[in-house]
Amino acid sequence: MNIQLSEKKIKDLQADCEIIIVIDGDLDHKWIEDKETLESIGFEGKSEDVAFLPEGKKVYVGSDSYDKDEIRLAISTALKEIENTKYKTIKIGSSVDKCPVSNTKALVEGAILGTYTFDRYKSEKKEKVEKTLIISTEDMNSISIGIEHAKKSLNDSQIIAEVTNSAKTLVNTAPQDMTPEVLANYAQNLADTLPNVTCFIGDEKFLEEQKMGAFLAVSRASINKPRFIHLSYKPQNPKEKFVYVGKGLTYDSGGLSIKPADFMVSMKSDMSGSATVLSILEGAARLKLPFEIDVVIGSCENMIDGSAYKPDDVLVARNGKTIEVKNTDAEGRLVLADCLCYACELEPDYLIDVATLTGACVVAVGEYTTGIMGHNGALKHELLKSAKSSGELVATLQFNKYLKKLTKSKIADMTNVGSNRYGGAITAGMFLDNFVTDEVKQKWMHWDIAGPAFVDSAWGYNQAGASGAGVRLALYWMQSKTYNKKH
Ligand code: BES
Ligand code: ZN
Ligand code: ZN
Repeated sequence: MNIQLSEKKIKDLQADCEIIIVIDGDLDHKWIEDKETLESIGFEGKSEDVAFLPEGKKVYVGSDSYDKDEIRLAISTALKEIENTKYKTIKIGSSVDKCPVSNTKALVEGAILGTYTFDRYKSEKKEKVEKTLIISTEDMNSISIGIEHAKKSLNDSQIIAEVTNSAKTLVNTAPQDMTPEVLANYAQNLADTLPNVTCFIGDEKFLEEQKMGAFLAVSRASINKPRFIHLSYKPQNPKEKFVYVGKGLTYDSGGLSIKPADFMVSMKSDMSGSATVLSILEGAARLKLPFEIDVVIGSCENMIDGSAYKPDDVLVARNGKTIEVKNTDAEGRLVLADCLCYACELEPDYLIDVATLTGACVVAVGEYTTGIMGHNGALKHELLKSAKSSGELVATLQFNKYLKKLTKSKIADMTNVGSNRYGGAITAGMFLDNFVTDEVKQKWMHWDIAGPAFVDSAWGYNQAGASGAGVRLALYWMQSKTYNKKH
C-alpha cells in the first residue's frame, strides 16, 4: 500500500475511488452526498458497517467516534471492501472536526496494518493491484498546520506500521523456516542495513562460556542449535538506554512435559517476543529516536531427544541461582532468566522483557490484551497511556508475596513453576524477578503477550495469526518520551 499526501482539495483530487468515514451514524454530515441511497440499503454508519457504491465509486464506512483506533478500524474495513477491485488510487480527506494530524496518522496505520497479507506458502498467489491511498490535507491548510509537519507524521506512522507487519511475517513463518539460525541472520541483516546498528551472535559455546545454564538446558534436545542475539542501536549522544529482551522459542513442543496435540498447534508463535523486540529496534532506528536501544534475544527450540532436560533436573542460571525443574513446558522463563542477567549488566535505564510466557495470562485478561507486570507503578501507568494512543490493549497485573511462595523449592533456590495453577501469569513474572538485579528492579517491566501475539481469527484490523503485539506500544511509548523532553 502506497500512501501520499496532497494539498489539493478532496473534490479536485483525481482518483479511482473515494472513502468517506461516517462518524457515529451521522448521515447528515456535509461530506455525505448519498444519504438516501445509504438509508435505502440499510447502512447505519456504525463501527464496521460498510457500503460500497460502485456507480459513484464511493465507499462509506462507519466509525463509532473520532478515536484514533476507531479510525484505524474504519479505513481498514473500507480498504478490505475494495481489495479485489481494479482501483489503483483511492482518496480520502484528513477530516476537519478533530485533529487532522492525528487522524492522518490513524489513517496511515490502519491502511498499512489492515491490508497486510501473508501468502508465502500459497502456491497460487492472489494477483494484487498495488493501491495508492491519497490523503487530502486541505483541512490542515485551514488550521495552518504545515505540510512538512503532516509529512513527518505520515512518515513516522508508515514506519511504525511497516515494522509491525515485519514482526507479523517473522511469526507467521513456518517453524522449519524460522529456526534460531534464521532469526539470527535476520538480526544480522538489520545491523547490515540500518545506520548505527551493530549485532553480536553467540552460539552454544558462547552460552557455556557465559554460564547460561538454564538457557542451555532448554535448547539441548533440538537439532536446530540455539542462538544468543544482541543488537544495539546507538545514535550520537543518546539520551537514555532502553534494553528489550525477547523470548525467541522458534518452537515449543513442551519438551518432556509434552503439550497435548491441540495446544502444540501455533507454538511456532513462541518466538513472538523476539520478533517484537527486533521490530522495535528497526522502528527506533528508522524513526531516529534519540535513545540507545539494545535488544537481547534467547532463541532456541524446546524439543525432545535423549539429551532433553528433565523434570527434577536442577539448573544453574548465569547469576548462580539454582532452579529445580518441575515442568519442562515452563521453558521461556528459563531462557529469559539468563538473558535478563545479561541485560542487567548493560546498565539499562529501562529494561523490558517481551514474551509469550503463559497460557494463564490469556485466561486472566483474554486473547487481545498484553499483561504488564513490574515493581514501578509510575512506569506501568505510562504504558497504560501509550497503549491507548497506539491502539494496543494492556492490563496491569500486581505481584504479591503469597504467589511468590508458590515457587519455593525443597532442594534448590526456586522451582520453575508454581505449586498450584492459579495466578500463573504473575508467578511467572515473579520468577523472572529473581534474575533482575536490585539496581534495575524499578526500571524493569515484564510484558506477557501470549494472548495478542497470535490469535486464530481476525480481530479489528488485525488478521488471523500474528499481530506484532508490543511493537506499536513500545514505539509510541518511546516517542512520547521524546515529546516530554522537548517541553
Ligand atoms: N509458550 C507457552 C505459553 C503460551 C501458551 C503462549 C499459550 C501462547 C499461547 C509457555 O512456554 C508455556 O507452555 N507455559 C505453560 C506454563 C505452565 C507449564 C506452568 C502454560 O502456560 O501452560
Ligand atoms: Zn512452554
Ligand atoms: Zn513457551
